[in-house]
Amino acid sequence: MGKWVVTSAWPYVNAVPHLGNLIGSVLSSDVFVRYLRLKGEDTVLVSGSDEHGTPIEVAAIQQGISPKELTDKNHVFISNLFKEWGITYDNYTRTHNPTHIQFTQEFYMKVYENGYIFTEVVELPYCPHCDRFLPDRFVEGICPHCGAEGARGDQCDKCTQLLEPTKLINPYCVTCKNPPKIRKSKHWYLDFPKFEKDLEEFIENNPVIPDNARNWCLSLLRTEGLKPRAITRDLKWGIPSPLPGSEGKSIYVWFEAVLGYISATKQWAEEIAKKPDKFEDYWFDSNTKTVFFIGKDNIPFHLLIFPALIMANGSGYVLPYNVSSTEFLMFEEDKFSKSRGVGIWIDEAIKLLPPDYWRYYLLAIRPETKDTSFKWMAFESKVNVDLNDVLGNFIHRTLSFISQNFDGIVPERKDLAKEDEELIKTIRETPKRAGETLERFTYKEALGEVMDLARKGNSYLSVKEPWHRIKENKDAAGTTLNLAIQVVRSLAILLSPFIPFTSKKIWELLQLDGDVEESRWEEASDIAIPAGHKISKPEPLFQKIDSEELKTRLEKLKAS
Ligand code: MF3
Ligand code: ZN
Repeated sequence: MGKWVVTSAWPYVNAVPHLGNLIGSVLSSDVFVRYLRLKGEDTVLVSGSDEHGTPIEVAAIQQGISPKELTDKNHVFISNLFKEWGITYDNYTRTHNPTHIQFTQEFYMKVYENGYIFTEVVELPYCPHCDRFLPDRFVEGICPHCGAEGARGDQCDKCTQLLEPTKLINPYCVTCKNPPKIRKSKHWYLDFPKFEKDLEEFIENNPVIPDNARNWCLSLLRTEGLKPRAITRDLKWGIPSPLPGSEGKSIYVWFEAVLGYISATKQWAEEIAKKPDKFEDYWFDSNTKTVFFIGKDNIPFHLLIFPALIMANGSGYVLPYNVSSTEFLMFEEDKFSKSRGVGIWIDEAIKLLPPDYWRYYLLAIRPETKDTSFKWMAFESKVNVDLNDVLGNFIHRTLSFISQNFDGIVPERKDLAKEDEELIKTIRETPKRAGETLERFTYKEALGEVMDLARKGNSYLSVKEPWHRIKENKDAAGTTLNLAIQVVRSLAILLSPFIPFTSKKIWELLQLDGDVEESRWEEASDIAIPAGHKISKPEPLFQKIDSEELKTRLEKLKAS
């Protein structure tokens, strides 16, 4: 049995996540951990609200409230939404919690004592009009690397390069739009170049991380290399810097949020699981596999900065096993944009349709190797064809036939013909094949394997034609239905990481004991429903959708 810490990137809590944020990290982490649990692995899934940093402060200023008021309100709203989406965090916490704040401060004191922090007086953009320094997202301008407009002081969204705020071309203050002046300020720096070699080795020797992440990091390390980065900011909102002489400054949001993965596990062990030892058991055991689900813009923070911090701290926290980074989800070839109303946000989506419809489609198009668009037409067809015609129809045909012709009692298996043996073989093999692809983090392929089982079930019924056979040979029809319902049971187990609500419903229709989530993945290989078992009255699992009608409903929602 293995030990896993699974995480998703901590969403900035200034805004509701959109479908792209969801598939990039949150949903992907949930699928993986649900799979691991079915495998009987020892797992913990953590994440939380990223409450600090300039995105929060900028939004709070716009709304005329304090950052704390903003994050209190939004944290509750967003964590409830994730529950409605069926995301099964063991701890969904927040970065402004005492465990995290204390953990971060102690972590940095250790890095300081280890001699990896130095100070420097630097020139920084300062807005005389707003009377404040303009770190990170308080300043925007043209990206010095790719020329994109609206690049932020810390990172360009377009080319994902990390930036220095003074290097922006034609910078302006995001609050008042005035050009900043330059002012001197003393800051505390982490000596990243010291970790270049170790980081390169860590990335080269990691066989699991996806190509996009590996190539991005190696090319940075081999060309420009890592530069020292300031860990302090002239901001009041955040974690107060504990470093001697740095009173009044806070820690740069990225350099503490990534530590949240560790502190959230600590908090879970202490406060939720009430087994404080579990914390060290996870983070200090080299056998633990840690997996981080992120969008590609987060690559440098997870594969360079986070490991470097672990190295600098030197306590022996495990380095990432995988950083499963997805490309971007686009919306009909465009970028998601709240201001332009382009895209669907996770609160809107579940007002339109049940979560499994979205989960299925998003997982089926997960942007694993290239940017991928949400498309209304494709969404309609995935729901209507895959979910309704293939999956729903197969299950409904099977259950209805048993209800109508065998009083809802699973008939016996008698003599097996070639097609029966073949179907049994597919039932036996699918869990292994789908599981292996999931362990390679290729979800689209895994989902395809599972849906192939449903497809085979459908064609099996079409070839066997039990609706004709039953007239002359009830036993043969019985055998067919006995096997078909075994497929239904396997599907319930194999689909549960992806569309958990549906899978529960199938389990109930089958009237099987316990909860499908208590099954083992391998048990999907079994022919386990005995003849004589009574099932319940079938109900359709899905309804067809009309994308035009949905679009209209969404527009109404957005307008209200
Ligand atoms: N808040 C960041 C974002 O939304 C992600 C932070 S992930 C963590 O892009 F690593 F810092 F935790
Ligand atoms: Zn200003």
